[in-house]
Amino acid sequence: MYVRSLLFLVLCLAGANSHLLKFEDCGSVKGKVIQVDFVPCGYLNIEFQMFETVQNATILMNQIVDGKPGPAPLPYIYACNQWDFYGLRCPLHTGKRYNFSLDLAQEEPEFHLKGRFTLKDLSDHIIFCSQFNFWFC
Ligand SMILES: *[C@@H]1O[C@H](CO)[C@@H](O)[C@H](O)[C@H]1NC(C)=O
Ligand SMILES: *[C@@H]1O[C@H](CO)[C@@H](O)[C@H](O)[C@H]1NC(C)=O
Repeated sequence: MYVRSLLFLVLCLAGANSHLLKFEDCGSVKGKVIQVDFVPCGYLNIEFQMFETVQNATILMNQIVDGKPGPAPLPYIYACNQWDFYGLRCPLHTGKRYNFSLDLAQEEPEFHLKGRFTLKDLSDHIIFCSQFNFWFC
C-alpha cells in the first residue's frame, strides 16, 4: 500500500502524462461514471458516483470487437476484495465518489482495445457500465 501511494504521488507530480478519456455509457443504473483518467503504461482510474449504497460488487471487463463484447478477463471478480489491486473498498455509499483503478503495466506486447467495464452488485444489478479505448503496455 505504501508503494502504491508513493507511485501515485510520483505519477501526480509527473502529472502531464495523465489524460481524461472519452467514454460511452452502456447502461449504468445504481451509479454513474464521472471521469476516466488514463496514464499510458501506468494506470486507469474510473471515477464513479453512487446513487445507491451497495454492500459488495463484482467487476467485469470485456473487449468490444465489431460492436460485440467478447471476454477480456480481469484477475479478480470481486471488486472490493483486492484493495492493493483495484483500490476499492465496500460498502459503496450513496452520493460518494470512488475510483476503480487498474495497473496497465502488465501486458506484453502493447495491447490496444476498446474495453467495457461493468461494475455490478451481488444481485447482478448494474452499478456502472462504461466503454472506451485504451491500451496495456
Ligand atoms: C463480497 O462477497 C464475496 C463472495 O460472497 C466475499 O468473499 C467477500 O468477502 C465479500 N466482500 C465484502 C467486502 O463484503
Ligand atoms: C480519482 O482519481 C482521480 C485521478 O485519476 C482524482 O482526480 C480523483 O480525485 C479521484 N477521486 C476519488 C474519489 O478518489
